[in-house]
Amino acid sequence: MAERINQTDQADQRIFPASFPGTRLRRIRQHAWLRSIVAETVLSPTDLIWPLFVHDHHANAPIAAMPGVERLSIEGVLRAVEEAQQLSIPAVALFPVVEASLKSDDAQHALEPQNLVCRTIRAIRESCGNSVGIICDVALDPYTSHGHDGLLDNGQILNDETVAVLARQAVILATAGCDVVAPSDMMDGRVAAIRRALDTALQQNVCILSYAAKYASSLYGPFRMALGSATSLGTADKKTYQMDSANSDEAIREVSLDLAEGADMVMVKPAIVSLDILYRIKQMFGVPTMAYQVSGEYSMIQAAAANGWIDGPKASLESLLVMKRAGADAILTYFAPEIARLLK
Ligand code: PBG
Repeated sequence: MAERINQTDQADQRIFPASFPGTRLRRIRQHAWLRSIVAETVLSPTDLIWPLFVHDHHANAPIAAMPGVERLSIEGVLRAVEEAQQLSIPAVALFPVVEASLKSDDAQHALEPQNLVCRTIRAIRESCGNSVGIICDVALDPYTSHGHDGLLDNGQILNDETVAVLARQAVILATAGCDVVAPSDMMDGRVAAIRRALDTALQQNVCILSYAAKYASSLYGPFRMALGSATSLGTADKKTYQMDSANSDEAIREVSLDLAEGADMVMVKPAIVSLDILYRIKQMFGVPTMAYQVSGEYSMIQAAAANGWIDGPKASLESLLVMKRAGADAILTYFAPEIARLLK
């Protein structure tokens, strides 16, 4: 051993750069306290947004494809919101599971001020005031019998007709008391139409979080099962409106259009397979940028952890930390309560 070191010593002029041994990066990795003071990225519970599924039943019900996540009753949502407050999670995102009998081709139930998501928003406001942010999807997929995010005509998703409905949906959500509307449909021009409709309805303070770079991904599968839109959708896909995973420049164009149309914040999803996009967007625009760790990302970690193949909490922490490193200001994740508890 000593001999080998000596040989290395003699050779060091050739094999080591001039900075060595003066610079040894391992020195700053020796202790946990040292690693923590040199950490460039910190994950905090205040970075997390907790997506919640709400259904119109009195009991919570498990979602088979998302172990640990449930469809909640409105009561269940109120308990979760209280938990979010205790854990310093600043906001929840609501996703209604709509009864099949209320779905239709034209998604009219989305415009019903007494629908489930509006009732849930009002219940949160009544019991928790303004202390937790409420974010709601603007899209028609929970309400369409065909499972698409837009209106369908002869197999085509109609853009402008859909946008007109989305603008009305946004106003109804805002009127119920939602703080942030999040168009997740990827129709062209919807951010401008929603902004105009909100302002006309005197809802200037309601924010728009645009799902700006949303890819047509296989990783939304468990979410669609949770909503029941998977069966409605059948073998159809959303590739004529959601983005092609092959593209990066196009994500930049999407974000710049949405910002010009009045988006306050933008989102990238799925997160872990779009870290390059997240990084580019944050670098280029410097605006509040969210990442959505989608259902499939969650379930992959949960499935591997359940098999004992990976350490679930460590893997989820790592996945969220690297999203922040890439540029995310906040992250929507189904792991929000577990991670917030870990971080506390
Ligand atoms: C609906 C919507 C989807 C997600 C968020 N909003 C599914 C889709 O576009 O098909 C996915 C979230 C997840 O998978 O966790 N437009």
